[in-house]
Amino acid sequence: MSIVKIKDKTFQTSISEAEIKQRIKELAKQVSHDMEGKNPLFLGVLNGSFIFAADLMREMTIPCEISFVKLASYQGTTSTGKVKEVIGINENLTGRSVIIVEDIVDTGATMKQMVESLGTRNPASIDICTLFVKPDKLKEPLDIKYAAFSIPNDFIVGYGLDYDQQGRNLKEIFTLVEE
Ligand code: IMP
Ligand code: MG
Repeated sequence: MSIVKIKDKTFQTSISEAEIKQRIKELAKQVSHDMEGKNPLFLGVLNGSFIFAADLMREMTIPCEISFVKLASYQGTTSTGKVKEVIGINENLTGRSVIIVEDIVDTGATMKQMVESLGTRNPASIDICTLFVKPDKLKEPLDIKYAAFSIPNDFIVGYGLDYDQQGRNLKEIFTLVEE
C-alpha cells in the first residue's frame, strides 16, 4: 500500500496498474467484437481520458479512429452542472459509430450533455466507454455500455484523473483518505 500527498490531501493506492491494464484489455476485446466492420470513431473527453484513450486504442484489434473533445463545466444558477465545449469536433459524424471515451462518470451530467449534443450530428450510434463509474452518484438515466470499473463514492486520482490538475501522472489509482 503506498501513500501520496497531493497539495493538502492524502491518497492511498486502491487499484494497481496491472488490474487497470487487464480491464482495459478486456474492454477493448469486447468493443473490437461489437464494432467489427464499423470503423468506430473514439471521441476522448479531455483532459481526464487521455491515458485511458491511448491504452484502449492500442488494445483494439479492428480498424478504428480517434479524436478528442475538450469540455469545461461551469457553475450555473441551478444545482445541475452545465458543460460547454472548449475544443469542438471537426469530424463529420454522419453515419459514424461514435464511442465516447471518458475517465469517470459521476453524476452523469457531462455524458448526458455530450450524448445529446452528438445526437444532433446524425451518427449511426453513440456509446459510452468509461474507465470508472460511481453508480451511487449517477443522477441522469444513462446507458453506459462499457465501464471498466464500478467504484464507491470516494474521490480518486491517477491514470489521467486529477485532484486540482495534479496526480494525472500516477500509474495506479489512489483513493482519498478521509481525515
Ligand atoms: P459528471 O458530469 O458529474 O458525471 O462529472 C464527471 C467529471 O467529474 C469527470 O469527467 C471528472 O473530470 C470529474 N470527476 C468526478 N469524480 C472524480 C474523481 O473521483 N476524481 C477525479 N475527477 C472526478
Ligand atoms: Mg472528465
